[in-house]
Amino acid sequence: MAIMTKTASTPDRPVLVLGATGTLGLPVVREFGAAGVPVRALVRDTDRAAAILGPQVERVPGDVRDPDAVRTALAGCAGAYLSLRSTEGFEPADSAELIGLRNVLGAARHQTLDWIACISGAGDLARYAHLPPLRIKYQMEQLLRNSGLPYTVFKPTHFMESLPLFVRQGRASIPGRQRRLYHYLAARDYARIVVQSFVRREHIDSKLTVLGPAAYTMRQALEIYADICLPRKGVGQVPLPLLRLLGTIGGDPQLRMVHTLFKTFAQVDSETDDGAEVIVPEAPLRLEDWCRLQLTTAAA
Ligand SMILES: NC(=O)c1ccc[n+]([C@@H]2O[C@H](COP(=O)([O-])OP(=O)(O)OC[C@H]3O[C@@H](n4cnc5c(N)ncnc54)[C@H](OP(=O)(O)O)[C@@H]3O)[C@@H](O)[C@H]2O)c1
Repeated sequence: MAIMTKTASTPDRPVLVLGATGTLGLPVVREFGAAGVPVRALVRDTDRAAAILGPQVERVPGDVRDPDAVRTALAGCAGAYLSLRSTEGFEPADSAELIGLRNVLGAARHQTLDWIACISGAGDLARYAHLPPLRIKYQMEQLLRNSGLPYTVFKPTHFMESLPLFVRQGRASIPGRQRRLYHYLAARDYARIVVQSFVRREHIDSKLTVLGPAAYTMRQALEIYADICLPRKGVGQVPLPLLRLLGTIGGDPQLRMVHTLFKTFAQVDSETDDGAEVIVPEAPLRLEDWCRLQLTTAAA
């Protein structure tokens, strides 16, 4: 983990992280810690969060949908970072991401906030705002842009951390024919960029596309992962219509969300957005090295 020394711009006031316990939120929390920035987390389950986050992270109980809980959590913070996932489907009205952001912006009216940032998605989302998963991200980007607060929208591409999610019963398979190339990114490298933005006040009032070091199709990336990390090599494919059918027949909303998500990925033709600066982390983890690291971590 990179150790950044505490600088004149490192505040004593904490940063509020929403989604601190998540796959992509936790590395940001750790990186804030390494930079000497105190973190406060708004969490639904304080005991579970304590086990994940450790004792240094201050925990405030609550749901991001509750404006009072968000106001309490934000009080006295220098900044806020949102790394939430919408688990209830892709309707903006039900989205924890959107409701959470609205509540943070509402609470920010009562205090001074030096920085507010969120994770969005790669690509020019204005072009794809008709696709439900991206509509939510696009609306978040618009909310931040129009907030009048110093904001940064992070638009990372696909994460290496998503590769294990393709494995079911030891077998890796991809939903649909995914032909696009993605510059797979390690969450650790992404987290460094987020924290540097806060500590150095870089990329303020802007959108930032964050890419990893090399481009792969999903199949190529998953083949590398399977080759290094799985006893069973090779990568299969599940047709998208079959996935939809299984989700409908089985009444499985998660499967239906996976279907919608991967149908969406197949339609987005570029990771970049003309309105966003592109950044590649310094000395980024290569996919092969990231995979080997998973083996070491699992063995420890
Ligand atoms: N995977 C990729 O390649 C990729 C690429 C670009 C962007 N993204 C985006 O990154 C975001 C985060 O992804 P992730 O994988 O880190 O998600 P995740 O592991 O599911 O984490 C989601 C976090 O949000 C919290 N949360 C959700 N609803 C909440 C609520 N109502 N109140 C309080 N906390 C709530 C969860 O808390 P609990 O611990 O209580 O559940 C958890 O900490 C997503 O929006 C995703 O679309 C992902």
